[in-house]
Amino acid sequence: MSNTKNLNRRFFMKGASATALIGSAIGGGLAIPSAVNAKGMGYISMSMSYDLDEEFNRIGSGDYKWDSIRRNARPHDVPFPMGVADMDFRTLPHITEALMKRMGHQNWGYQGPPSYFYENIIAWNKKRYNQDIKPGSILNSHGVLDGCLSILKLHNTSGGPVLVQTPGYSGFFGTVRNAQFSSVENPLRLIDGRWEMDLDLMAKQIDKDDIKIILFCNPANPTGNCWSPTEMRAMGDLCIEKGVLVVADEIHCDFVNKGATYTPYATLGEKYAMSSYTLKSTSKSFNLAAHHVAYLFSDNMEMIDNLKKSGHQRGSLNALGMIACNAAYLHGASYMDDTQSYIDGNCHILEDFCNESMKDVKYRKHEGTYLAFLDCSSVAKKLGKPDDGARVGDMLKNFFIEKAGVNLNPGENYGLGGEGYMRMNLATTNYKLRGALDAMKMAIDAI
Ligand SMILES: Cc1ncc(COP(=O)(O)O)c(C=O)c1O
Repeated sequence: MSNTKNLNRRFFMKGASATALIGSAIGGGLAIPSAVNAKGMGYISMSMSYDLDEEFNRIGSGDYKWDSIRRNARPHDVPFPMGVADMDFRTLPHITEALMKRMGHQNWGYQGPPSYFYENIIAWNKKRYNQDIKPGSILNSHGVLDGCLSILKLHNTSGGPVLVQTPGYSGFFGTVRNAQFSSVENPLRLIDGRWEMDLDLMAKQIDKDDIKIILFCNPANPTGNCWSPTEMRAMGDLCIEKGVLVVADEIHCDFVNKGATYTPYATLGEKYAMSSYTLKSTSKSFNLAAHHVAYLFSDNMEMIDNLKKSGHQRGSLNALGMIACNAAYLHGASYMDDTQSYIDGNCHILEDFCNESMKDVKYRKHEGTYLAFLDCSSVAKKLGKPDDGARVGDMLKNFFIEKAGVNLNPGENYGLGGEGYMRMNLATTNYKLRGALDAMKMAIDAI
C-alpha cells in the first residue's frame, strides 16, 4: 500500500516536524484532521518522546466528546469538551500504521485475531503489573460493559440486585438495567479528602438484598481511587464469605498518577482470583473505544467455560479493532508512560489552580484514571436553587457550558454521593486545560 509507506511515524515524536501528517499520507481520501502544533505551557519537564502538547483536531470525525456536545449545546460554543471519557491525544502511530496496512489489503472476509494477540495481552499485563493471566482464560468482548452484561446474565441466577459502590461509573447502572436487574448503591465515604469503602454497610446490604454480584472499579471512575491491597482484601474477604462474585472492571489500569500504585484485584491471591472476573481493554489507554475490542479473564476456568457456553464468545471481534489492540500492546509501552506522566502533570495544574485561583472548586490530586471529580458545591450554592425538577449537576453543567464553554459531567450521574460534584476529563493538552480553568474562573467570579 503506497500510502502506508508515506506515513512517517516520527511526526508525532518530540522534535519531529508536526506537519508530516497522516492526512497527507493518505492522499486526501479520508477527512483526517490536521495538527497545528500549538505548544502548551510546558508545565511538566520529563523527557517525553511523544508530542502530547500537539493540538490534535478531533472535530469532524463524528465523535461524542467533540462533535455531539458542540451540536447539542448550540447556540453555545464549547471549545473545552471535558465530558466523555476518551482522550484528545493522537493515538500511537504504530496503531494507525498497522490499520492502514490492513486497509490496503481490501479483503474483509471472516477473520480471527492477528498472530500473538493473546500472548501480547498476557505480556503487557505481566510486564507492567506482574499479573499472570492463564493462557486460554481470555475471552474477547466488544466492550468491557458487554462483558459485564454477559457475566451478570450468567451468574445472577437469583435475580437479586447488583452492588455498585458510588459515586461509581454511570455505565454500570445502565448495564445492570440492560440485564433486567436492579442496583444497590453502596456509597463511599469521603474521609480526609479520600473516598473510602464502607464495608459495614456493604455487609448489611449483601445480607438484606441477597446480593450475589458486585461491579467493582479499580482504578475507580469517577473518584480516582487506586484501591490498595488492604482495602481490596477486606472487600474480597467479605465477598468470598458471603458468596458474592467480584467483577473487577480495570479498564483504567494504565492511568496511575505518581505516588500511587495499581494492584490488580486478581493478584491478591488464589481465592480472590478464583472468585472474580477481570475486564480490561486498550480503549482507554490508546483511545480506541470506537474499535470495540476488550477482553476478560479469570483463573476460574469453569466460570470461563460456562461463559463461553452461554454464548458470550459467539463470533469474533472486529478485524481492525483486533489489529489496533495488538499494535498497542506490542509497541505502546513508552506512549503509555508518556501519557501517564502528562496526565499527572495535568492533575498538578488543576490542583494548583483550584488551591490558588479558583477556591470555589475543590480538588485534591487523585490516584488513577484521567478523570477528576471536582467538588463544585460552593459554585452551586452561589447559583442558587436549580429550576424545578433540574438536578444540581444539570444546573452546573449548563452554567459551565453557557458561561465558560466547558462541558463537564454532573456528579449525580454516578449515583449516591455525587451531588455537587462534576467530573472533568483531564486527557487533553496542558494548553486546553489551562484555557478551560481560566474560563471557569472568570465565569464563577462573575456570578
Ligand atoms: C470504568 C469504565 N468501565 C467501562 C467503560 C466502558 O467500556 P467499554 O466501552 O469497553 O464498554 C468505561 C468508559 O468510560 C469506564 O469508565
